[in-house]
Amino acid sequence: MSVSLLTPAQIQAKLAAKNYPAQQAYLAMYSTWWGGIVTEPGLMTIPVDDHLVHRGDGVFEAIKVVTGRIFLFAEHMRRLQDSAEQIGLKLPMSAGDVKDIISEAMRAAKVQDALLRLYLSRGPGGFTTNPYDSVGEQLYLVVTSLKTLPSEKYEQGVSIAKSAVPPKDPTLARIKSCNYLPNVLMKKESVDRGVDFTINIDSAGNFLEGSTENMVILDHAGNLIRPPLFQILKGTTMMRAFELAEALVKTGQIKNIQEQNITESDIVNAKEVMMIGTTLDVLPVTSFEGKKIGNGTQGPVAKELNQLIRQDFVNGIQI
Ligand SMILES: Cc1ncc(COP(=O)(O)O)c(C=O)c1O
Repeated sequence: MSVSLLTPAQIQAKLAAKNYPAQQAYLAMYSTWWGGIVTEPGLMTIPVDDHLVHRGDGVFEAIKVVTGRIFLFAEHMRRLQDSAEQIGLKLPMSAGDVKDIISEAMRAAKVQDALLRLYLSRGPGGFTTNPYDSVGEQLYLVVTSLKTLPSEKYEQGVSIAKSAVPPKDPTLARIKSCNYLPNVLMKKESVDRGVDFTINIDSAGNFLEGSTENMVILDHAGNLIRPPLFQILKGTTMMRAFELAEALVKTGQIKNIQEQNITESDIVNAKEVMMIGTTLDVLPVTSFEGKKIGNGTQGPVAKELNQLIRQDFVNGIQI
């Protein structure tokens, strides 16, 4: 095999010529490393010695923009800052500056709807595990097109199963770090098993969350229940859905809103089960380990909560 020593110009030409299907969704990237935006997918790169790349040393957020409004921006920025603080990282700019960067990147991407991924990394330097070798935090923003699930998934519901992947310990489960190997393995097992999502389970048998989404249930008494915020990520969509669900308590569509451990029998006997997250909104679950949940179609509370979340997009901040 012959291996060439390439010039920077040759590398740039090769990167620009890269072409694979997923890139069609990559619209723009901002990097503090360059202090600007690129729109060529092949140039959307991060230095290989950034601790984010070789150690997963960083935190991130996935944020939805709908008709030019950033949904739950303050909540995502708060979680990013909380995650960063937990591992001793600082955002190298204000949340207002991040918003300006998002606005410029969206302008470059020429879209009104998008999924943003915001990565805060330890930064380049060293190749060791020593975070003090790094030159300092970097922020990377990637704008991709927003892909929503087909409406049949909302009408017919999705399937879930038990995950064999051990959950992260509680401290790490609450940090949205770039160490997502267990989450990747959960997605892999769901694809391999032919189910939509698998749910991980704690040592006491309580069901926690999906690979990148929360799970909640409605019990037969009409209680809307989410797991304690102990060994799961505090989902921005789940928390907002639970705030909006207060209105359903007032109208009597649900009885109560609760934080409580969810066991296998709670799922099997639930009236409704839902997966909730940024890209999904509120998705009904109609099968667990091959057994039907509820009446096997979208339940009224899942439908109502999904509508409430989608109506709430107008409260996102304007880019
Ligand atoms: C592990 C995990 N749980 C839950 C969620 C749902 O959170 P959100 O509603 O903020 O997207 C995510 C997605 O960010 C996640 O990665």
